[in-house]
Amino acid sequence: MIADKDFFLIELNDGQVDFERLFSNCLPVYLEIGSGKGEFISQYPTHHPDWNFIGLEARGKRINNILRKLSPAVNPNVRLARCFVDAKINETFAPDSINGAYIQHPDPWPKKKHHRRRLINQDFLNALAQILKHDAFIQVSTDHDGYAAWIVDEFMQNPYFEPVYDKNIQEIPLLDEHIVTWFEHEQKRRGFDPKYMLYRKI
Ligand SMILES: C[S@@+](CC[C@H](N)C(=O)[O-])C[C@H]1O[C@@H](n2cnc3c(N)ncnc32)[C@H](O)[C@@H]1O
Repeated sequence: MIADKDFFLIELNDGQVDFERLFSNCLPVYLEIGSGKGEFISQYPTHHPDWNFIGLEARGKRINNILRKLSPAVNPNVRLARCFVDAKINETFAPDSINGAYIQHPDPWPKKKHHRRRLINQDFLNALAQILKHDAFIQVSTDHDGYAAWIVDEFMQNPYFEPVYDKNIQEIPLLDEHIVTWFEHEQKRRGFDPKYMLYRKI
Protein backbone atom coordinates (compact mmCIF):
# COMPACT_ATOMS: atom_id res chain seq x y z
CA MET A 1 0.00 0.00 0.00
CA ILE A 2 1.45 3.34 -1.01
CA ALA A 3 0.57 6.27 1.19
CA ASP A 4 -1.06 9.29 -0.47
CA LYS A 5 -2.01 7.35 -3.60
CA ASP A 6 -5.50 8.87 -3.42
CA PHE A 7 -4.09 12.38 -3.27
CA PHE A 8 -1.86 12.04 -6.34
CA LEU A 9 -3.41 9.46 -8.64
CA ILE A 10 -6.14 10.64 -11.00
CA GLU A 11 -8.32 8.78 -13.51
CA LEU A 12 -8.46 10.19 -17.00
CA ASN A 13 -11.44 8.28 -18.40
CA ASP A 14 -14.10 10.73 -17.32
CA GLY A 15 -13.83 13.28 -20.11
CA GLN A 16 -11.68 16.40 -20.00
CA VAL A 17 -9.92 17.19 -16.75
CA ASP A 18 -11.31 20.02 -14.61
CA PHE A 19 -8.08 21.63 -13.33
CA GLU A 20 -9.78 24.02 -10.96
CA ARG A 21 -11.50 21.12 -9.24
CA LEU A 22 -8.38 18.97 -9.29
CA PHE A 23 -5.95 21.52 -7.83
CA SER A 24 -8.43 23.84 -6.06
CA ASN A 25 -6.83 26.79 -7.87
CA CYS A 26 -6.55 28.40 -11.30
CA LEU A 27 -2.75 28.27 -11.65
CA PRO A 28 -1.07 27.31 -14.97
CA VAL A 29 -0.87 23.60 -15.76
CA TYR A 30 2.13 21.75 -17.22
CA LEU A 31 2.39 18.13 -18.36
CA GLU A 32 5.25 15.70 -18.12
CA ILE A 33 4.79 12.87 -20.60
CA GLY A 34 6.57 9.61 -19.70
CA SER A 35 7.50 10.41 -16.09
CA GLY A 36 9.58 7.24 -15.69
CA LYS A 37 10.75 6.81 -12.12
CA GLY A 38 9.66 10.30 -11.12
CA GLU A 39 12.82 12.35 -10.56
CA PHE A 40 11.51 15.30 -12.57
CA ILE A 41 7.88 15.27 -11.42
CA SER A 42 8.92 14.97 -7.76
CA GLN A 43 11.61 17.69 -7.86
CA TYR A 44 10.99 20.28 -10.58
CA PRO A 45 7.52 21.39 -9.34
CA THR A 46 9.04 22.27 -5.94
CA HIS A 47 10.86 25.11 -7.75
CA HIS A 48 7.55 26.33 -9.22
CA PRO A 49 4.94 26.38 -6.45
CA ASP A 50 2.74 28.67 -8.57
CA TRP A 51 2.40 26.12 -11.36
CA ASN A 52 0.50 22.83 -11.39
CA PHE A 53 1.95 19.66 -12.92
CA ILE A 54 0.43 16.43 -14.17
CA GLY A 55 2.73 13.48 -14.79
CA LEU A 56 1.55 10.96 -17.37
CA GLU A 57 3.14 7.51 -17.31
CA ALA A 58 2.09 4.33 -19.11
CA ARG A 59 3.56 1.67 -16.81
CA GLY A 60 2.02 0.75 -13.45
CA LYS A 61 5.35 -0.24 -11.90
CA ARG A 62 6.75 3.18 -12.75
CA ILE A 63 3.67 4.86 -11.26
CA ASN A 64 4.47 3.11 -7.97
CA ASN A 65 8.12 4.28 -8.20
CA ILE A 66 6.88 7.84 -8.67
CA LEU A 67 4.31 7.67 -5.85
CA ARG A 68 7.08 6.68 -3.43
CA LYS A 69 8.88 9.95 -4.25
CA LEU A 70 5.86 12.21 -3.67
CA SER A 71 4.28 13.63 -0.54
CA PRO A 72 1.35 16.07 -0.31
CA ALA A 73 3.36 18.41 1.92
CA VAL A 74 6.23 18.76 -0.57
CA ASN A 75 4.32 18.21 -3.83
CA PRO A 76 0.86 19.76 -3.40
CA ASN A 77 0.98 20.98 -7.03
CA VAL A 78 1.52 17.51 -8.58
CA ARG A 79 -0.91 14.88 -9.83
CA LEU A 80 -0.21 11.65 -11.64
CA ALA A 81 -2.12 9.53 -14.13
CA ARG A 82 -1.44 6.11 -15.53
CA CYS A 83 -2.09 6.47 -19.22
CA PHE A 84 -0.58 5.72 -22.60
CA VAL A 85 -0.28 9.11 -24.29
CA ASP A 86 -0.99 9.29 -28.00
CA ALA A 87 -2.80 11.41 -30.59
CA LYS A 88 -5.97 11.23 -28.49
CA ILE A 89 -4.48 13.50 -25.82
CA ASN A 90 -6.88 16.20 -26.99
CA GLU A 91 -9.78 14.06 -25.70
CA THR A 92 -8.32 14.19 -22.19
CA PHE A 93 -7.46 17.87 -21.89
CA ALA A 94 -9.49 20.86 -23.02
CA PRO A 95 -8.40 23.07 -25.94
CA ASP A 96 -5.99 25.90 -24.98
CA SER A 97 -5.69 24.65 -21.42
CA ILE A 98 -2.02 23.63 -20.99
CA ASN A 99 0.93 26.01 -20.52
CA GLY A 100 3.75 23.66 -21.43
CA ALA A 101 4.91 20.07 -21.78
CA TYR A 102 8.09 18.22 -20.88
CA ILE A 103 8.98 15.05 -22.78
CA GLN A 104 12.27 13.70 -21.50
CA HIS A 105 13.88 10.72 -23.12
CA PRO A 106 10.80 9.32 -24.84
CA ASP A 107 11.31 5.71 -25.95
CA PRO A 108 13.47 5.99 -29.12
CA TRP A 109 12.29 2.76 -30.81
CA PRO A 110 15.59 2.55 -32.70
CA LYS A 111 14.63 -0.19 -35.20
CA LYS A 112 13.18 1.19 -38.42
CA LYS A 113 10.23 -1.22 -38.32
CA HIS A 114 9.30 0.26 -34.91
CA HIS A 115 9.56 3.94 -35.86
CA ARG A 116 5.78 4.11 -36.20
CA ARG A 117 5.60 3.55 -32.44
CA ARG A 118 7.49 6.77 -31.71
CA LEU A 119 5.43 9.21 -29.66
CA ILE A 120 6.42 12.28 -31.61
CA ASN A 121 4.73 12.31 -34.98
CA GLN A 122 2.38 14.64 -36.86
CA ASP A 123 -0.86 13.25 -35.40
CA PHE A 124 0.45 13.61 -31.86
CA LEU A 125 1.83 17.13 -32.45
CA ASN A 126 -1.47 18.24 -33.99
CA ALA A 127 -3.40 16.94 -30.98
CA LEU A 128 -0.88 18.45 -28.55
CA ALA A 129 -1.11 21.80 -30.33
CA GLN A 130 -4.87 21.82 -29.71
CA ILE A 131 -4.53 21.55 -25.93
CA LEU A 132 -1.57 23.94 -25.60
CA LYS A 133 -2.09 27.66 -25.11
CA HIS A 134 -0.57 30.20 -27.48
CA ASP A 135 3.14 30.66 -26.58
CA ALA A 136 3.19 27.40 -24.59
CA PHE A 137 6.44 25.46 -24.91
CA ILE A 138 7.49 21.87 -25.29
CA GLN A 139 10.84 20.78 -23.97
CA VAL A 140 12.10 17.49 -25.40
CA SER A 141 15.30 15.64 -24.61
CA THR A 142 16.85 12.49 -26.00
CA ASP A 143 20.29 10.90 -26.14
CA HIS A 144 19.42 9.04 -29.36
CA ASP A 145 20.86 10.88 -32.40
CA GLY A 146 18.43 9.27 -34.83
CA TYR A 147 15.40 10.18 -32.73
CA ALA A 148 16.73 13.72 -32.18
CA ALA A 149 16.91 14.24 -35.96
CA TRP A 150 13.43 12.69 -36.33
CA ILE A 151 11.99 15.00 -33.64
CA VAL A 152 13.45 18.11 -35.30
CA ASP A 153 12.00 16.95 -38.61
CA GLU A 154 8.53 16.37 -37.15
CA PHE A 155 8.45 19.78 -35.45
CA MET A 156 9.75 21.57 -38.56
CA GLN A 157 6.99 19.96 -40.66
CA ASN A 158 4.30 20.96 -38.20
CA PRO A 159 2.56 24.32 -38.70
CA TYR A 160 1.75 24.86 -35.00
CA PHE A 161 5.28 24.99 -33.56
CA GLU A 162 8.50 26.93 -34.03
CA PRO A 163 11.95 26.32 -32.53
CA VAL A 164 13.00 28.68 -29.74
CA TYR A 165 16.67 28.37 -30.79
CA ASP A 166 18.01 28.67 -34.36
CA LYS A 167 20.07 25.58 -33.73
CA ASN A 168 17.26 23.15 -32.90
CA ILE A 169 19.42 20.69 -31.00
CA GLN A 170 21.19 22.08 -27.93
CA GLU A 171 23.85 20.25 -25.94
CA ILE A 172 23.31 22.00 -22.62
CA PRO A 173 20.18 21.78 -20.45
CA LEU A 174 17.59 24.44 -21.22
CA LEU A 175 15.78 24.65 -17.90
CA ASP A 176 17.11 26.80 -15.05
CA GLU A 177 16.66 23.99 -12.57
CA HIS A 178 17.78 21.03 -14.63
CA ILE A 179 16.76 17.72 -13.10
CA VAL A 180 18.89 14.77 -14.18
CA THR A 181 16.40 11.96 -14.65
CA TRP A 182 17.22 8.33 -14.02
CA PHE A 183 17.35 7.59 -17.73
CA GLU A 184 19.55 10.61 -18.49
CA HIS A 185 21.95 9.55 -15.74
CA GLU A 186 22.10 5.95 -16.99
CA GLN A 187 22.63 6.89 -20.61
CA LYS A 188 25.34 9.44 -19.77
CA ARG A 189 27.14 6.75 -17.80
CA ARG A 190 27.09 4.62 -20.96
CA GLY A 191 28.53 7.50 -22.99
CA PHE A 192 25.33 8.81 -24.61
CA ASP A 193 24.99 12.54 -24.07
CA PRO A 194 21.56 14.13 -23.93
CA LYS A 195 20.34 16.62 -26.52
CA TYR A 196 17.71 19.19 -25.70
CA MET A 197 15.09 20.84 -27.90
CA LEU A 198 12.67 23.63 -27.13
CA TYR A 199 9.63 24.55 -29.25
CA ARG A 200 6.98 27.20 -28.91
CA LYS A 201 3.34 26.86 -29.86
CA ILE A 202 2.63 29.57 -32.44
C1 LIG B 1 13.06 5.95 -21.59
S1 LIG B 1 11.98 6.16 -20.27
C2 LIG B 1 12.35 7.83 -19.71
C3 LIG B 1 11.72 8.12 -18.38
C4 LIG B 1 12.00 9.49 -17.78
N1 LIG B 1 11.39 10.55 -18.57
C5 LIG B 1 13.48 9.70 -17.65
O1 LIG B 1 14.03 10.59 -18.34
O2 LIG B 1 14.10 9.01 -16.82
C6 LIG B 1 10.41 6.43 -21.10
C7 LIG B 1 9.26 6.41 -20.15
O3 LIG B 1 8.09 6.82 -20.84
C8 LIG B 1 7.05 5.89 -20.60
N2 LIG B 1 6.25 5.91 -21.83
C9 LIG B 1 6.61 5.44 -23.04
N3 LIG B 1 5.66 5.70 -23.95
C10 LIG B 1 4.68 6.35 -23.28
C11 LIG B 1 3.42 6.89 -23.67
N4 LIG B 1 3.01 6.82 -24.94
N5 LIG B 1 2.65 7.49 -22.73
C12 LIG B 1 3.08 7.57 -21.45
N6 LIG B 1 4.26 7.10 -21.03
C13 LIG B 1 5.05 6.50 -21.93
C14 LIG B 1 7.73 4.57 -20.33
O4 LIG B 1 6.94 3.68 -19.57
C15 LIG B 1 8.97 5.04 -19.56
O5 LIG B 1 8.72 5.17 -18.19
